[in-house]
Amino acid sequence: MPEPLPRTAWLEKPGVPCEPDPAARARPLRVVLLGAPGVGKGTQAELLTARRRVCQLSTGDVFRAAKAADPCHRSPALEEALGYMQRGELVPDETVIAIVKERVACLRCDGGFLLDGFPRTVAQAQVLDQLLADEGLGLEAVLSYELPTARLVARLGGRRTCSNCKSVYHVEARPPARDGVCDRCGGPLVLRDDDRPEAIMVRMRAYEQSTAPLADYYAARGLLVPIVAEGTPEEIYARAEAALEQRTAAVAAAQR
Ligand code: AP5
Repeated sequence: MPEPLPRTAWLEKPGVPCEPDPAARARPLRVVLLGAPGVGKGTQAELLTARRRVCQLSTGDVFRAAKAADPCHRSPALEEALGYMQRGELVPDETVIAIVKERVACLRCDGGFLLDGFPRTVAQAQVLDQLLADEGLGLEAVLSYELPTARLVARLGGRRTCSNCKSVYHVEARPPARDGVCDRCGGPLVLRDDDRPEAIMVRMRAYEQSTAPLADYYAARGLLVPIVAEGTPEEIYARAEAALEQRTAAVAAAQR
């Protein structure tokens, strides 16, 4: 598997100069990955990144990177955000929006972006529209991954994440070669705080109340692309690529 992109400007040091991958620059992708917790957005982002060399901009990863960093460097707002996350609740819009605005250079990147976990509310989607419009940019599509709730809970309960490089496994569907050890870096695999059963239920409710309405928001703008999230990660990835190709062809035909 190719090395993951470092994402330093997104995860740790907003504003540091960074060079997009030539493959991504040749064919930049600007998409939002939408879907309930555990549907496989991170797994799909990993496949898209490996093949298109485009950065995965995950707000959840920003919070987790902050949690792993020296607590002395956390602002009170970030400290509060980590509490919401641990309980499975959404972090308040103003905190999330401030974090994304600090990283706006990643949105204007010539190599494009995969937004994963942002936007999660209609208020966040409106801010994203404005940030992109200010840069003269727009989204190519919103890939909306769909799976019944019972399957989501099973995916989350079996997830194990590398505490070092953050690679994602599943005890049954995607086990590591050695129990509890990351194939990529040898780091220990752990259960995320918010993958405990009580936090999973809170996350599902937050999704239904705040994030599910985004499907209507993007459908009304002609951007929503539903993707059935059943099957292997590769099968789901192939469905998404085919849908993106179809959209590109339709846009090109409409412009002729
Ligand atoms: P975030 O990190 O964004 O988490 P999430 O949306 O809940 O999504 P997950 O990372 O849990 O799941 P995923 O869809 O990426 O699935 P994965 O690929 O890992 O957010 C975490 C928290 O941060 C939020 O709850 C909130 O508190 C806060 N937050 C973040 N952004 C915010 C925002 N914008 N506003 C407010 N708050 C915000 O897959 C899951 C498992 O399934 C894995 O084990 C995987 O191996 C397995 N799997 C994947 N695909 C398949 C398959 N096809 N078949 C079988 N197993 C599979």
